[in-house]
Amino acid sequence: MSRLPEPGNPRPAGDKVTSTGLKTRKLTGEKITALTAFDCLGASILDEAGVDLILIGDSLANTSLGYETTLPVSMEEMLSAVRAVKRGASRAMLVADMPFGSYQVCIEDSLANAIEFLKAGAEAVKLEGGASRSRLVSELSGNGIPVMGHIGLTPQSVHAMGGYKVQGKIREDALRLLDDALALEAAGAFCLVLEGIPAPLAAQITGALEIPTIGIGAGAGCDGQILVFSDLLGLSAGQKPKFVRQYAELRSLAIRAIESYCQDVREGDFPSASETYGKNPEKHTEKPA
Ligand code: KIV
Repeated sequence: MSRLPEPGNPRPAGDKVTSTGLKTRKLTGEKITALTAFDCLGASILDEAGVDLILIGDSLANTSLGYETTLPVSMEEMLSAVRAVKRGASRAMLVADMPFGSYQVCIEDSLANAIEFLKAGAEAVKLEGGASRSRLVSELSGNGIPVMGHIGLTPQSVHAMGGYKVQGKIREDALRLLDDALALEAAGAFCLVLEGIPAPLAAQITGALEIPTIGIGAGAGCDGQILVFSDLLGLSAGQKPKFVRQYAELRSLAIRAIESYCQDVREGDFPSASETYGKNPEKHTEKPA
């Protein structure tokens, strides 16, 4: 039995979330909810739960594909995830993360890659970096591609940062991040992810911008929050970052369910008669009259 949404099935009520609609939220003060998804099943769950924004994040690399960092994930892998998510969501706004290497080489390549994401079903792209990305952001926005910026702890720069460390702790770095945020807004970004920065700095940046901020490890003063799907649901193994609130413990639940299945199969308890077609096997071996 398929649990994926069938075309034509009723979808949750509510208007389609768009980049312009999210900007308006800043004025009304209604917080933005965001989560990652990498496939149709995950996207359909988020959409049904009423999440505003689904990020097809490059954390696909280290949460689902088994890479150690986000760096190796390719355009092809990201595009495949975007297409799958698109098939599962209709209300949430879909933002595709541009993977490492897809926007660093030159403006022309970056534009072509962003266009690929929009053709695959994304409604915006996200890219990491501050003021140095202004020209690219302006080029993409100028071509009708909404851009979400991402500053602070930017995982694609893990080697440059010397690890996954909170950013903006000293005054000089904090001022640079504020300048980065203002530069991205001026270049046309519709929204900014603030990751791994002190809460007072995130609140200050949020107050200085007209576009909304979405925080992850940046405190409650942002205009919205984002978490990684598998962290929120407790699907991943290992230690979680301090900022993760785990709302369920699905990994151990799933392991217990699968252990029970294995035991039932081994003991001949599954399938039972009610889970079997043609309960009377003799009937099927009888020769037709
Ligand atoms: O890839 C990702 O999941 C992200 C979010 C954590 C912001 O970039």
